[in-house]
Amino acid sequence: MTKQITVLPGDGIGPEVVQAAEKVLRAVGETFNHEFTFQYAPIGGEAIRKHENPLPEATVEACKTADGVLLGAVGHPDFDHLPGSERPEAGLLGIRKALGLFANLRPVSGHESLNDASTLKREVIDGVDLMIVRELTGGLYFGEPKERREAGGEEEAVDTLSYRRSEIERIARQAFELAKVRRSHVTSVDKSNVLETSRLWQEVVEEVAKEFPDVTLEHMLVDNAAMQLIRDPKQFDVMVTENTFGDILSDEASMLTGSLGMLPSASIGSDGPGLYEPVHGTAPDIAGQSKANPLATIASAGMMLKYSFGMIDEAQAVENAVQAVLTEGLRTGDIAGEGEAVATTEEMTEAVVRHVKSS
Ligand code: NAD
Ligand code: IPM
Ligand code: MN
Repeated sequence: MTKQITVLPGDGIGPEVVQAAEKVLRAVGETFNHEFTFQYAPIGGEAIRKHENPLPEATVEACKTADGVLLGAVGHPDFDHLPGSERPEAGLLGIRKALGLFANLRPVSGHESLNDASTLKREVIDGVDLMIVRELTGGLYFGEPKERREAGGEEEAVDTLSYRRSEIERIARQAFELAKVRRSHVTSVDKSNVLETSRLWQEVVEEVAKEFPDVTLEHMLVDNAAMQLIRDPKQFDVMVTENTFGDILSDEASMLTGSLGMLPSASIGSDGPGLYEPVHGTAPDIAGQSKANPLATIASAGMMLKYSFGMIDEAQAVENAVQAVLTEGLRTGDIAGEGEAVATTEEMTEAVVRHVKSS
């Protein structure tokens, strides 16, 4: 097959990790006889520097015409003083919206050999396998008004949390569909004891659940969910939740795998190309030093093979290769134990490439 991939490297460690994933995709292409072509486009801080715009129109076009989009990460302290709509992060929110990517799938599964890299006890995390389904184009991130204004003689800031029935319906359906091919359990996470949006969320999720009689549904308040993720993460199969809760819970859940540098994600809509990106950010503290763990982005590329290209064996080869390098004991700094040798981003990448080529 021939596939056109648009790569948005972004800022900080973004370029380092997408380069790693591109190498792995090239190895998959060679091994399984596919032709992957790569086209680069600027987003975030890089795009602000070059075009004074975090999301140039040409970048949106390059994404719309691609078969899949691979993104590093955006954001840098240099731009923290800018108004919200001009920050690098606005580029990421803009491309998610422009491509209609309402569902963000964030799988969290442990690797046996990494159990000791987590700050949590081995017996708590051993065998964790859950999927966070985060609503991605609604909620507090996008609600209007979003502004500074005057109120009672002083400055006030407003963000708006709103959800329409149709937005909840489609994300709930996505979660149930995924649960059907997993362990048939959905935990819907909300704050229905306080928020009206959560009460509508619960109602709509209940309605959608009727279409899936073989899937069990449980509702959990978000504060409790944050605690349960650490107390007993193995109780979860699919967790579905709104944009902000999903953002926070997934960074928390990353520690079940040992590091934020391990967590991939797929952002998908009802049609058009999906966007694949690590859950982590630009890690300015380690950028440009070959310290970044590339596995989250490599695994995100694996999700592209599976969800956008339907290449199941190829995706499995990437997953197996990641598993193999971890079993061999290769460790970037974020997952290395005390006294363990630390591999560079390139060494880790080359090891994955080697395994893919021998699959
Ligand atoms: P971060 O995820 O960039 O970093 C948090 C911590 O995790 C840091 O100590 C970092 O070194 C470490 N880390 C992250 N990824 C790693 C990897 N692959 N390998 C090894 N260690 C890794 O979060 P932050 O520091 O809060 O944010 C930094 C910038 O990134 C901000 O500008 C923020 O807006 C942006 N950000 C972007 C995205 C995205 O583009 N999807 C996501 C989160 C944060
Ligand atoms: C993520 C990030 C983004 C988000 C930011 C950078 C806009 O934290 O992808 O998790 O909050 O969605
Ligand atoms: Mn986040």
